[in-house]
Amino acid sequence: MKPQMNARPLAIAVGQALAALAAVAIAAASPAHAAETAPRPWMDRSLSADQRATLALQAMTQQEKLGWVLGHFGADFANKTKKHPAALPFSAGYITGVPRLGLPALFETDAGLGVATQATATPRERTSLPSGLATTATWDKRLAYNGGAMIGAEARASGFNVMLAGGVNLLREPRNGRNFEYAGEDPLLAGTMVAQQVKGIQSNHLIATTKHFAVNDQETGRFVLDARIGEAANRTSDLLAMQLVLEQADPGSVMCSYNRLNGVYACENDYLLNQVLKKDWGYKGYVMSDWGAVHSTTQAANAGLDQQSGWEFDKSQYFGGALEEAVANGHVTQARLDNMVHRVLRAMFDKGVVDHPVAEGGAIDFAAHGLVTRTGAEEGMVLLKNEGGLLPLKPGAGKIVVIGAHADVGVLAGGGSSLVYPIGGNAVPGLEPKVWPGPVVYHPSSPLKAIQARAPGATVVYDDGTDPARAARLAAGADVALVFAQQWVGEALDATSLSLPDGQDALIAAVAKAQPRTAVVLETSGPVTMPWVGQSAAVLQAWYPGTSGGEAIARVLFGEVNPSGRLPATFPVSESQLPRPVLDGDPKDQTTRFAVDYHEGAAVGYKWFDLKGLKPLFPFGHGLSYTRFSYSGLAASQKDGKLQLRFKVSNTGAVKGKDVPQLYVAPLNAKWEAPKRLAGWDKVELAPGASTEVSVAVDPRLLATYDSRSKTWRIAKGGYKVLLARDAGGADAASVTVQLPQSTLDLSGKPLR
Ligand code: BGC
Repeated sequence: MKPQMNARPLAIAVGQALAALAAVAIAAASPAHAAETAPRPWMDRSLSADQRATLALQAMTQQEKLGWVLGHFGADFANKTKKHPAALPFSAGYITGVPRLGLPALFETDAGLGVATQATATPRERTSLPSGLATTATWDKRLAYNGGAMIGAEARASGFNVMLAGGVNLLREPRNGRNFEYAGEDPLLAGTMVAQQVKGIQSNHLIATTKHFAVNDQETGRFVLDARIGEAANRTSDLLAMQLVLEQADPGSVMCSYNRLNGVYACENDYLLNQVLKKDWGYKGYVMSDWGAVHSTTQAANAGLDQQSGWEFDKSQYFGGALEEAVANGHVTQARLDNMVHRVLRAMFDKGVVDHPVAEGGAIDFAAHGLVTRTGAEEGMVLLKNEGGLLPLKPGAGKIVVIGAHADVGVLAGGGSSLVYPIGGNAVPGLEPKVWPGPVVYHPSSPLKAIQARAPGATVVYDDGTDPARAARLAAGADVALVFAQQWVGEALDATSLSLPDGQDALIAAVAKAQPRTAVVLETSGPVTMPWVGQSAAVLQAWYPGTSGGEAIARVLFGEVNPSGRLPATFPVSESQLPRPVLDGDPKDQTTRFAVDYHEGAAVGYKWFDLKGLKPLFPFGHGLSYTRFSYSGLAASQKDGKLQLRFKVSNTGAVKGKDVPQLYVAPLNAKWEAPKRLAGWDKVELAPGASTEVSVAVDPRLLATYDSRSKTWRIAKGGYKVLLARDAGGADAASVTVQLPQSTLDLSGKPLR
């Protein structure tokens, strides 16, 4: 459950009374008995989703229409009010259907890591994917799709037909408490990977909701902050990531965010919803609000909001009686209300929600799903450092000491509405905070046990790490020390700094000093600083690794899986390298309005580091393997105005492995936000000695700058250096220069003649 603002109880009481009246009105207006025999032309599957939505809309009463645009919360709220009676217990939301017309209710569940529960009392125990950053770190589109398909199947089996998943807010702020729900700092990588997840979810005949639109890039002050960013910069960064998701996956719904964008709340922002989303991008789905993100009736409806979600979180039932009145008196036209409903219905027909009704209690193959999440976790782990080939560990490794982060029993999860409650319960109950955005949850997948199982000849002992001196003594007497470190963050709660909390830096430093063969395993939401990095031989970034995380970590440590993850975000040396060394806003004050000036514009992450000539701790794209790869034959050609790049990758090491060759483009003359951009990549698996040809087509928008006045992308004539690289850090493997002609592209990147 998630209390968000203080002034809730009164608003809820009033709102509940209104809801009860509305329910009576809907019941009275529904001629249920006449329905059975009446024809239902909208059920004809040979018609388009648009046609079906139009026909269904025509058959509806005004009260029925109004029902589609008002969402109810699905859980008891602060124990003061009851959920909508028909909602699934402890779910995110519910929208009344129109059963007399064969149109099912909408049952909404969070989120991108799996089927979440909005309370601790009776959680649904479901499979959790590794964090969004971990999935993105795989750089493997197929895995992102598979993960989406898996959690979508669990949503369906749990009775949900709307999954509030597809988080694509850019990692502008490494302290953002929700980075683990998102997909990193690069718009191409984030947009591509999240699109695959959305496709996977929707393959289950569900609606996926991509979010949070837009520039909701920190949690501190999220209800009030004003994200200030230039239009062209936004189109080239946060908006581009979202645009790619819409183009590639066509999610049924988009969730507008809590924050303001350039002065106007996102859910009543005409520029964002009407102009960019619906007009420029031609989006045909519906816009739902975030829970508590609506502030008006007329303005929101006319600016493009189609559905108020979990109205109990808002100050009023803005899209209830108030909207009815606004339509009656003409402040919102009937056509606009019809369009709002049409968009919801269209998504329902288009995604298969009507033709494939959901039911609770479907079978879930947890063993198979455990493998899906384990594969994602393994492939998303990033081997940041491996001096002297400490990893992979050998099975007969003598004495291994495992230290810290509850590695004896489980792996950490992030907090907030996206939390998937573990199968088998929380491995470490009782940690603070116990309430929203807690509880702190560990999935019961023990790294220690998985390590023990792989080292039958070794002595494997555990120390909880609370006494660094004791842990260091144990480490000194062992052959290898594995220090697990964690950073718990969650929705509504940014990290206060990039340092590991609870004195873990000191613990790692003490252990690494005592034992040169120390590997650190990080379970963090996103980037952290590592003052001890020079002392520890190896560092493995495991993120929040999900349901099978302990097993996945051990498999990578022992080389059953060759690490192939690459960083989807830059790891800075310290906060002083960031565009905002100090986070804006006050975590204790969620009501005073303030602005965040995104002065870096589109120069997010590695682009900022390039622009400022800063050397990060670990660059975007970085990740090691237990084998080596070499690149050759980089060649560029242009086909139908599209830049095509080809090259060869060879595995020159001794073991099978996967590589992620990356292509960056740097203009020689044109002025971009930063020296270079990621333009493409591939992930390839190669046996030792094997090679493969890779070919990558570049989205022309990545070679262009956005012109706000003409709403076009423009490629400047001139030379562009294509870099074939292992990461964004500047150690490029090969480069080639291409000459591009001047060209102008429409919003979708098609050349205009
Ligand atoms: C979050 C959304 C979530 C919604 C429903 C909000 O607090 O920001 O991401 O989908 O709650 O639980």
